[in-house]
Amino acid sequence: LDRPRVLSGIQPTAGSFHLGNYLGAVRQWVALQDTHDAFYSVVDLHAITVAQDPEELRANCRLAAAQLLGAGLDPDRCTLFVQSHVPEHAQLGWVMGCITGFGEAARMTQFKDKSARHGTEGTTVGLFTYPVLQAADILLYQADAVPVGEDQRQHLELTRDLANRFNSRYAPTFTLPDAYIVKETAKIYDLQDPTIKMSKSASSPKGIVSLMDEPRVSAKKIKSAVTDTGTEIRYDPEAKPGVSNLLSIYSAITGTAIGELELSYEGKGYGALKTDLAEVLVDWVTPFRQRTQEYLGDPETLDAVLAKGAEKARAVAAETLATVYENIGF
Ligand code: ADP
Ligand code: NA
Repeated sequence: LDRPRVLSGIQPTAGSFHLGNYLGAVRQWVALQDTHDAFYSVVDLHAITVAQDPEELRANCRLAAAQLLGAGLDPDRCTLFVQSHVPEHAQLGWVMGCITGFGEAARMTQFKDKSARHGTEGTTVGLFTYPVLQAADILLYQADAVPVGEDQRQHLELTRDLANRFNSRYAPTFTLPDAYIVKETAKIYDLQDPTIKMSKSASSPKGIVSLMDEPRVSAKKIKSAVTDTGTEIRYDPEAKPGVSNLLSIYSAITGTAIGELELSYEGKGYGALKTDLAEVLVDWVTPFRQRTQEYLGDPETLDAVLAKGAEKARAVAAETLATVYENIGF
């Protein structure tokens, strides 16, 4: 069976995934297992571009992997691995860095934003070369497609440029990856300030739904979400960002079309929508938490899953790297 190959990575961050991570990214990963030859990586090499505590980093990697499994990634139907377990990432990253122009890397807007926040001394060279390593992550697996949000488009363009450059300078080596545009990805907004996206760095504790929290805590956050003036339950992100966000979340979790939700809440108030959504969220998040906790409580099984994933990933990565080295003249 020759399915297109897809590659995606997620950083091991402290604490659990939030609703935005799940509905905006992880859910698509689960779906892509059925249509693609999917490679998913917990990208710990990328995480150390900013300082990390060793024990926390290790725990966060396990937490990320456990949540991905809890969300429905099936190690028999996809390849799930931790980036640092596959040394070819760093090796190809070096090669890619040697065909990247300094100015070309300096044009990456995400670096400009992040380095502005960290200051010159706080900004590492690793943060600068992050998109180059990301190119290596993708090209190592000869990925046909990469699910990307708007913020990652420039990095994917760089990946394609580098692949083209290597292919024409040496010999055809890399598949050129395309952006996989996911239809129906919900962008989830902060529950207390629905004009900003739900985000680990920007949201207040009450504005963000963390998936590993006690479900009743999350239910309470939904019930105290900011709504808009008026009473009508209508999807209108401009005039009614709060209600629209709740409708998006409801629709994304249940698969019910927003139009259908609007109809079923005709003549009902915001309270009814929130109560129902809180219940829907609890019903959905409870089994997710249980599965995730099972993996967290059984580190041997989790580590075995990740070791097997790394072995599968390495088989592909080593083959690509061998070709790269050969073509370079090593
Ligand atoms: P955060 O913004 O909380 O730091 P990340 O930047 O680590 O989250 O995002 C990880 C993944 O989750 C990315 O693919 C991103 O597009 C997705 N994501 C993050 N926040 C949201 C959101 N509010 N709505 C939809 N998708 C999101
Ligand atoms: Na972010």
